[in-house]
Amino acid sequence: MVEYMERDSRLGLCPARAPRGGSSMKVWKRAIGAVTAGALLAASLAGCSGDGTYSADMAEYAYEKGAPSLCQAYEDYFQVGAAINPRDLEEGSDRYKIIDKQFNVFTLENGTKAENIHPQEDVYDFEATDQLVEYGQANGKTVRGHTLVWYSQCPEWFFLDDQGNQVSAEVLIQRMKEHITTIVSRYKGKIHTWDVCNEVLDDSFGLRQSEWLNIIGDYDGDGDSYDYIEIAFQTAHEADPDARLILNDYSLEANGNKAITMYNMVKQLLEEGVPIDGIGLQMHIDYETDLDAMDRCMRVLGRLREIDPDFVLEVTELDMSCFTWNDTSTQRELTEEFVQQFDEKYCQVLSLLMDYAQEGLLDTVVFWGYDDGSSWLNEYPVEGRTNHPLLIDRELKFKSAYWALMNLPQQRAAQAAQEE
Ligand code: XIL
Repeated sequence: MVEYMERDSRLGLCPARAPRGGSSMKVWKRAIGAVTAGALLAASLAGCSGDGTYSADMAEYAYEKGAPSLCQAYEDYFQVGAAINPRDLEEGSDRYKIIDKQFNVFTLENGTKAENIHPQEDVYDFEATDQLVEYGQANGKTVRGHTLVWYSQCPEWFFLDDQGNQVSAEVLIQRMKEHITTIVSRYKGKIHTWDVCNEVLDDSFGLRQSEWLNIIGDYDGDGDSYDYIEIAFQTAHEADPDARLILNDYSLEANGNKAITMYNMVKQLLEEGVPIDGIGLQMHIDYETDLDAMDRCMRVLGRLREIDPDFVLEVTELDMSCFTWNDTSTQRELTEEFVQQFDEKYCQVLSLLMDYAQEGLLDTVVFWGYDDGSSWLNEYPVEGRTNHPLLIDRELKFKSAYWALMNLPQQRAAQAAQEE
């Protein structure tokens, strides 16, 4: 059991004992050796890394033939993916060329959510998910299913009877099982990973109040209310025993107490034999993200491998806002200084993720979208803002952050070799 330390909502974590393997920040610093992060970045931006590998003259627009591939650059570490929409799968389109080249794992941004795939009790709409699965099968791409049980984007019919009254726990369990079994069986062997439950925790370190929780509650009377989560994972596992089953949530990389709550809950569930294969960290971060906090949180979650050595972490929805959470402005001036800070932060985050990959803790990093113009962060949490959280701009041109990340794996490897 990891104890709560302090109830600071963002960084409130001081681990009771030093993380195994030392701090990843040290590894990052070692990897860049005497070179400062800034110099490393400047080299990346100028396109003249130690080996001169990737440069901005290779392609201006991300759909150009000469464009290199992000997922290839990271192939020794993790798969790199993106959340996409059906329009991205129109073969031959600019968007198709981009996603096909850059990524090897895909999530539908909205298409597999209950409100779209199962809008009414007797109506399923598999079109979008089928399309992604067919593309994945034909092109050797990994497909993630997002998401089976979530309080949001879930139609009301699940929770109401014909008279509009709330259904009983038995009825809701029945509906949930039918929903999961139908969808997971349809894509058995084709959807590699499911975000079985999404956002089950709230921000005050307990289970989120949702209709799933409130109606099903402590159904088996064992004293905890994890029952809907347990049933969801068990049902998904029965429908596809080989699928990777993930519990997905946000702020786990920033909010130490949330990470600890997650750790404690999943530890108990694993000990009870609930088939959870890993935790998905959404990682909707911003340009000021605290890397030490991130590392501490990841280390806490990584300790679940003491219970299940195969337990994994995935980054499921990475993007980096140009606005901190409390900033309500709608425009950000992209000064040279800001862009440098932004790109550097992206490199530092990816470098940490590469450390975890090298330790076998993480094998998948999925961006939530790929171009700034289509990002959900233009509408959330402040509507109508112009955000720039991804690696490709509104004209579908590569941003400097893309080139910086493209050069990072080689630079790390070169530095590590030099030090040996
Ligand atoms: C977002 C989509 O990006 C939007 O298009 C939609 O309007 C709302 O949902 N966490 C999740 C994702 O798990 O499903 C959310 O996606 C973003 C936050």
